[in-house]
Amino acid sequence: MQRCNLTRLDVGFLEAVNMTAYDTLDNLKSAALSRVWAAGTSGELDAIETEYLGRKGELTQMLRSIGALPPDQRKDFGQALNLAKNQLAEAIARRRDELGDREISAALKNEAVDVTMPGRFFQIGGSHVLVDTLKKIKDIFIGLGYEIFESPEVELYDYNFAALNYPEEHPAQDEHMSFYITDDILLRTHTTAFQHRVMKNRKPPMRACTLGKCYRVDAVDATHGHTFHQVDCFAVGRGITMADLKGTLHTFASAMFGKNVDVRFRPDFFPFVEPGAEVAVTCTICDGRGCNVCKGSGWLELAGAGMIHPNVLEGAGIDSEEYTGFAFGFGVERMPMLMYGINDLRLFMDSDLRFLRQF
Ligand code: DAH
Repeated sequence: MQRCNLTRLDVGFLEAVNMTAYDTLDNLKSAALSRVWAAGTSGELDAIETEYLGRKGELTQMLRSIGALPPDQRKDFGQALNLAKNQLAEAIARRRDELGDREISAALKNEAVDVTMPGRFFQIGGSHVLVDTLKKIKDIFIGLGYEIFESPEVELYDYNFAALNYPEEHPAQDEHMSFYITDDILLRTHTTAFQHRVMKNRKPPMRACTLGKCYRVDAVDATHGHTFHQVDCFAVGRGITMADLKGTLHTFASAMFGKNVDVRFRPDFFPFVEPGAEVAVTCTICDGRGCNVCKGSGWLELAGAGMIHPNVLEGAGIDSEEYTGFAFGFGVERMPMLMYGINDLRLFMDSDLRFLRQF
């Protein structure tokens, strides 16, 4: 039998094709029901529901067009329509339950956690190789009775140069090309700048140490950087001699490199010490036999050092007749470079995880 869309119900038309409104309703209902049972997803089911029972749905339209029937047929046909509507709604609800169950179990299956799979590891950070080195150095000096100070990286010209006995415009400053913030303020070029800050606020005896960043204007390459780390230490007291300096550096170097090393002093010049020395220790790579790291000499240059210049002590209000002191300072990067065979200074500041993860 031909299907007829009753939204365009026209009794005259129905009579003409010899089809009653009941037949049309029956056809519509069975078509709708078979579509409901065939629906594969709840989305499809929703679409079918709207198509038949929605505000503009086919069955809803049919209900609205009852008025077009002769009055004596309206009641019965209305009842038949409502019955069909309820049957359809019931079928949709049942199918929705079925599909819902199926969809939930499919989702559960899809999203199931396989507890036997290996987990995803969190990336756990570690301390930077320079931080480790600084800590090791710090621990050794604390063990030797040094007090650790923090000192500003943005420093006064006076503490960085003048108080350290640098005459104005002295050529020794050329090695320390600075980043100036004003004429009087600069990024410290060496940690030695902390000496005066401590000396003028303390009374001897004192043993002081600081560690941190320093800055110099320098073209960056494998062995030069604008930012690097230094350690600076000094001791002031009665009767302190160069033997104390030598003993201290020997103890430090042996603790740092984990073996007994010799210490060599050669004269050097720094405005804030007199006499001044360049300190070298037995090459830890070849134990002094000579290798390419120590360039065949058997020695590694470690630090600058000396007896604190009387002008520096006096400038801090310390009587240089009564007290003497020694001081030394060295670069930090050089230590891990030697210990791990690192050949490029830039690696320390690059934040390249492939480098950092090796330590
Ligand atoms: N501050 C010097 C530099 O950066 C190193 C140094 C030399 C520090 C002698 C000292 C010292 O404390 O006594 O080149």
